[in-house]
Amino acid sequence: MKVEFIRKDFGSVSADLLVVPCFKAKIPAWVHAELVKAGVGKDFIGEKGRYYLLPVKGKPYKRLMLIGLGKEKNVGLDDFRLAAAKAIRGAKGPRLANVAFLLDFNGATRHSEKDVAAAMVEGALLSDLKLEPYKKKKEGGRKIEKLLLVSKMDLASMVEEGRILAESQNYARLVAVEPANIMTPRKLAGVARELAKAYGFGFRVMGRSELEKKGMAGILAVSRGSVQEPVLVELKFNDGKKLPHVVLVGKGITFDSGGISIKPSKGMEMMKFDKCGAVVVLGVMRAAAEMKFPLRITALLPATENMPGGSASKPGDIIRMYNGKTVEIVNTDAEGRMILGDALAYANEAKPELIIDAATLTGAMMVVLGKQGIGMLGTDHGAMKEMYDCGLETNERVWELPLWKEYSEMVKGDYADLKNVGSESGEAGTITAAAFLREFVGSTPWVHLDIASVEWNDGSSGYFCRGPSGKGVRLLATFLKKWSKNKKK
Ligand code: BES
Ligand code: MN
Ligand code: ZN
Repeated sequence: MKVEFIRKDFGSVSADLLVVPCFKAKIPAWVHAELVKAGVGKDFIGEKGRYYLLPVKGKPYKRLMLIGLGKEKNVGLDDFRLAAAKAIRGAKGPRLANVAFLLDFNGATRHSEKDVAAAMVEGALLSDLKLEPYKKKKEGGRKIEKLLLVSKMDLASMVEEGRILAESQNYARLVAVEPANIMTPRKLAGVARELAKAYGFGFRVMGRSELEKKGMAGILAVSRGSVQEPVLVELKFNDGKKLPHVVLVGKGITFDSGGISIKPSKGMEMMKFDKCGAVVVLGVMRAAAEMKFPLRITALLPATENMPGGSASKPGDIIRMYNGKTVEIVNTDAEGRMILGDALAYANEAKPELIIDAATLTGAMMVVLGKQGIGMLGTDHGAMKEMYDCGLETNERVWELPLWKEYSEMVKGDYADLKNVGSESGEAGTITAAAFLREFVGSTPWVHLDIASVEWNDGSSGYFCRGPSGKGVRLLATFLKKWSKNKKK
């Protein structure tokens, strides 16, 4: 789907379909006239969820679609994403390939037209993605060729921004959907290399021998039961420039069987999505480069399988992590924190202004916030406040959980400095995981995002189809854009 913007009066838009989102009781007069002509008249006043597809005559557009948004005061930005998705779905049925969205809110003022424009582009593009690369393609699939945003105001830059954010998220979703037999750690490094080539990032991949030389024992311990080689991928945007520096760390477990502490087989196939932290970071790097953020960003992606092979790590094993702390591996299924520990300690050596990590870290997130939110913990309270606001804006919402010192007591080891699960089993699983990670970030301000419960959908949900959502890409890209502005002040 091509996305374009045109500053124009609505009457002269040529398209197969003109879509007009309407607030309740605020329908433009010309739209009302069309409704009367079509015999619909007073039936439609813009109620939430209602929509009409009308044939029109003598206009440069062939059909008119009216989407009810409901009362203006109840409408949030995400409702525009949902409305856009609905419009795209509605256009595909009757094969209306050239679609125009009209942004003319008839005096309604609460919403900035710029944000609405970006949100509608996002909803359209996110809903348009199919995540079935291995299904035989149907002949003559219904496709939207072009989406045109129309407004009397100049919204070109926000249309562009919405497009970049959504396309970066879709890029991440397409990488995420690849199964573990295809998307091995080495293959993931290859995907990162392609991205680096396309955008001119600095690129480096450390394989097993380099990880051994460096003493990255956490990554190595997790990889031990797999025949796939572990890697630590490093990408650098604006490398060497004098700009504020952020390190993004993403959990890249390409398959999490649990290892010797093996998971039940029901639902285990979903654990190909345990690489989503790393994949989200790739999407953010793409967005940062496309939008030319005035930031230096390093991405660190530790990637490995977690398998129960003959040489796998065993419960009770003790290893010395990259930062010198010893860890007793009590449960081999708590592997994310092992690979992140090494990567975070490595990030801390660069002394950036901020470290952010994203990880499908704990199943407990499903209990804490369910599918509605991302768990956030960390040490940089200013950044977390900002992240919260960005969550509301992007609808990739975060909620902070506490990191009181008692939680750190729970990950103190009996036979080593640390153990990789909390001492009170079943208590505060998301928080004790973060308390473990805190042992590796040194004094660098840090924000941790536990994305375990939002990263894939079992069926379609809103503007997402079944499969990986890429949630975190728009959140983090929006956050970094704002953060870079504050840094300049
Ligand atoms: N990747 C899982 C977390 C997960 C589970 C994400 C289900 C999404 C859905 C992680 O590696 C894990 O297994 N965590 C354990 C930790 C426990 C052993 C302390 C968990 O949450 O059960
Ligand atoms: Mn696990
Ligand atoms: Zn995992």
